[in-house]
Amino acid sequence: SSDPLVIFTPSGKRGHFPVGTPVLTAARQLGVDLDSVCGGRGVCSKCQITPSYGEFPKHGVTVSEDALSDWNAVEQRYDDKRGLTKGRRLGCQATVQGDIVIDVPPESQVHKQVVRKRAEVRDITLNPTVHLTYVEVEEPDMHKPSGDLERLLTALKAATGHADIAVDTHLLRALQPILRKGSWAVTAAIHQDHTDTPPRLSALWPGYFEGPVYGLAVDLGSTTIAGHLCDLTTGEVVASSGLMNPQIRFGEDLMSRVSYAMMNKGGDLEMTAAVRDGLNQLVVDIAKDAEIDPTQILDAVFVMNPVMHHLFLGIDPFELGQAPFALATSDALSLPASELGLNIAPGTRAYLLPCIAGHVGADAAGVALSEAPDKSEDLALVVDVGTNAEILLGDKNGVLACSSPTGPAFEGAQISAGQRAAPGAIERVEIDPATKEPRFRVIGSDLWSNDEGFAAAIAATGITGICGSGIIEVIAEMRLAGIVDASGLIGSAEQTGTSRCFADGRTNSYTLWEGDADQKPITVTNADIRAIQMAKAALYSGARLLMDKRGVDHVDRVVLAGAFGAHISAKHAMVLGMIPDCPLDKVTSAGNAAGTGARIALLNKDARSEIETLVRKIEKIETAVEPRFQEHFVNASALPNSADPFPILRG
Ligand code: FES
Repeated sequence: SSDPLVIFTPSGKRGHFPVGTPVLTAARQLGVDLDSVCGGRGVCSKCQITPSYGEFPKHGVTVSEDALSDWNAVEQRYDDKRGLTKGRRLGCQATVQGDIVIDVPPESQVHKQVVRKRAEVRDITLNPTVHLTYVEVEEPDMHKPSGDLERLLTALKAATGHADIAVDTHLLRALQPILRKGSWAVTAAIHQDHTDTPPRLSALWPGYFEGPVYGLAVDLGSTTIAGHLCDLTTGEVVASSGLMNPQIRFGEDLMSRVSYAMMNKGGDLEMTAAVRDGLNQLVVDIAKDAEIDPTQILDAVFVMNPVMHHLFLGIDPFELGQAPFALATSDALSLPASELGLNIAPGTRAYLLPCIAGHVGADAAGVALSEAPDKSEDLALVVDVGTNAEILLGDKNGVLACSSPTGPAFEGAQISAGQRAAPGAIERVEIDPATKEPRFRVIGSDLWSNDEGFAAAIAATGITGICGSGIIEVIAEMRLAGIVDASGLIGSAEQTGTSRCFADGRTNSYTLWEGDADQKPITVTNADIRAIQMAKAALYSGARLLMDKRGVDHVDRVVLAGAFGAHISAKHAMVLGMIPDCPLDKVTSAGNAAGTGARIALLNKDARSEIETLVRKIEKIETAVEPRFQEHFVNASALPNSADPFPILRG
């Protein structure tokens, strides 16, 4: 062809186009990812490109410096008003004048990569459900009678290709003033999810609305509700917020909430109202933090365990309290946010990730999406530890899942000096194996208890208790120092050679801190160790059951998800036999992976299809009916285990 050759980078897509073809048109024809909100009217500036000549001569083609020298009045106007970075052109205005290489910078790509902080996981490709489109609408004409909506839809069809855009009543009511205020130019937010549900108009602004528009990713935990507000045009988290789940007043753990619903007529609805109130508080907090209006939130994605899932939807969780633990629905849900009582943009659709099984919720689906065990080359064990542990085991050949009732001991409950992770709580412990003397660190200070200045550093809080990660460490250290035996019994002062061990009823306790004028001593009792043994045995047995099903006796790596997972030390967890034997450098923590999964599903609608497909394929194991669970549990009660050898740990 004698037409000029156009090459786009970074995609490498190329083709010949007649002189005078707008770059945006060439990009569209080649399927190059170049953004446009205004459809080439020179209004949005999303289509910015950089003509680049660098590599090109190497291909033996000569280009002239003015291959894109058709700078026009539209660009001049834009440059005067908003400033166009030197070297940049508007892709909808610049036309092909000769052979050219054109670079599409990341901010002009629709499907930007959102980089994740951790090296071992994939980045997120931005592909949100909501897109903005600027259109000019034909004015009403007495000779051609048609409604304002019909003319808007005609303009939107021409701009987006969608012939079947649905419009909610609340927007129909707002339509006429918006069209007139914008002098027949409007910006529409169109929501289209990953299914073949017709697209819908979810918001409308007069004139050109630059955005940004926002989405909310929420991890609805039984203890805390955590949310991230994301800019849907960049994928960035612009604000994060968390609060206690107000349902706590109906019961600390899930089963006590299920029984509250059983014992109190209307109790489930009270809890539904409580969690929705909490969410709206979160919306208020996070919008205030980001200095935006909640009506700019146009998408919302939720992950949560099955009981929270039902209570959030207003479904009585009764069936989840008893075998066979039937969910009302396990499929992913997309429904109007207003039906969930959420005070965000009224046209917003809320998306709930699918649940994996009666005990393994959408939170575990979020973990699966974030950690992608199904894409792993090596066999990965992913555990999310809370009052229930959700456990995934798998690689690219398949994924298994179960949950195990660990109870609240890992969160510091059922522990005599236990408390939530908060300033004042002991979080790190070391015990000298020779002297049996401990030293520890307290949340709020980097100093160890035997460091100079420790007392002053913690004066504000004092030493108030032991948090979940602290209790793991102190028991593991007690085991390593020979204060506790493999069965979990604390030795006497005589047996251990330290007066820190003392008779406490029928068993012994260990004094971790002697106390002072203000605070009582902090001790570890044998009942504390018992509680941790139960919790860790439940966790380990669940993992072991999945390993049995998979036919393996070891895993290649372990991922600890959740707030607890982020704080416990791999070594101490393994000394206790919480997790299967594996090289310590293969144990990583993933932070709030369930919440990250919600964020991925918010930013990339293809990830919604992906997790829905994966959840159907995951093999679900119900620990309660597996006969080997008990056997594993008994063995796993020992420290680290009475049957499994833990060769790496011992070696
Ligand atoms: Fe909007 Fe070019 S497409 S300014």
